[in-house]
Amino acid sequence: MIELSDITKTYGEGQEAYTALKGISFTIREGEFVSIMGPSGSGKSTLMHIIGCLDTPSSGTYVLEDRDVSTMTDDELAEVRKDKIGFVFQAFNLLPRTTVLRNVMLPLVYANVPEEERERRARAALVSAGLSEDHFSHLSNQLSGGQIQRVAIARALVNDPALILADEPTGNLDSKTSLVVLGTLQKLNRAHGRTIVLITHEPDIAEHADRLIRLRDGRVVADEKNPTPRDATQETKLYDGTDESVTNKLS
Ligand SMILES: Nc1ncnc2c1ncn2[C@@H]1O[C@H](COP(=O)(O)OP(=O)(O)O)[C@@H](O)[C@H]1O
Ligand SMILES: [Mg+2]
Repeated sequence: MIELSDITKTYGEGQEAYTALKGISFTIREGEFVSIMGPSGSGKSTLMHIIGCLDTPSSGTYVLEDRDVSTMTDDELAEVRKDKIGFVFQAFNLLPRTTVLRNVMLPLVYANVPEEERERRARAALVSAGLSEDHFSHLSNQLSGGQIQRVAIARALVNDPALILADEPTGNLDSKTSLVVLGTLQKLNRAHGRTIVLITHEPDIAEHADRLIRLRDGRVVADEKNPTPRDATQETKLYDGTDESVTNKLS
């Protein structure tokens, strides 16, 4: 699905130039759950922007589902993002004083999906992200941290992307709520076959993926299968009650 060959990315020019990626090559197959790990400044976000078609490499080739996206124009990249990629960010900006359902319908407005279709798809995405129906009409500023990330995941799912990219999605959540979010991502991967790339600097979080790619100073220093991925749903059960009650307790 993703084929990166000798990708470099240099910011700035001349004396100021800084090469954040120094020749990255790897392949991710459809249905994989991969974590990209590395310390701050190692190039994780730069790589995610390239994989997510938000930016193009300085050199090298990137083939996404048989199309070379490394030389596409901004308009072409926007089209690929809309059709194929869902993003979950750390500081996800939901519209405040706007219902959960409307927040999730929003990407479909931009994609020119008919109105009745928008609501149907937004409801389905929210269910897949594990948010219960009685929260759909809540305003987004009335939600707990864990619920907000579920809405963020639903928003990433609503255009039915083949690829979900999550950049530090648990970055500002406590560890119990982080598990709820990771459990949602694992379920989307295992039960629904979504390809997931999870970016994190925390080993505990990365260990939920089936494969770990480690970056350091803009290079891949390790790429290995995780023989014993942690199961977030099981871990969540260690805290008493269902995951919904965990989320509520933390709100
Ligand atoms: N727009 C930019 N202009 C110049 N340097 C940048 C820019 N974005 C990132 N960098 C530099 O590239 C390196 C990698 O950054 P980044 O990809 O954000 O790493 P990470 O996400 O792993 O913390 C850092 O040294 C950072 O300062
Ligand atoms: Mg980053």
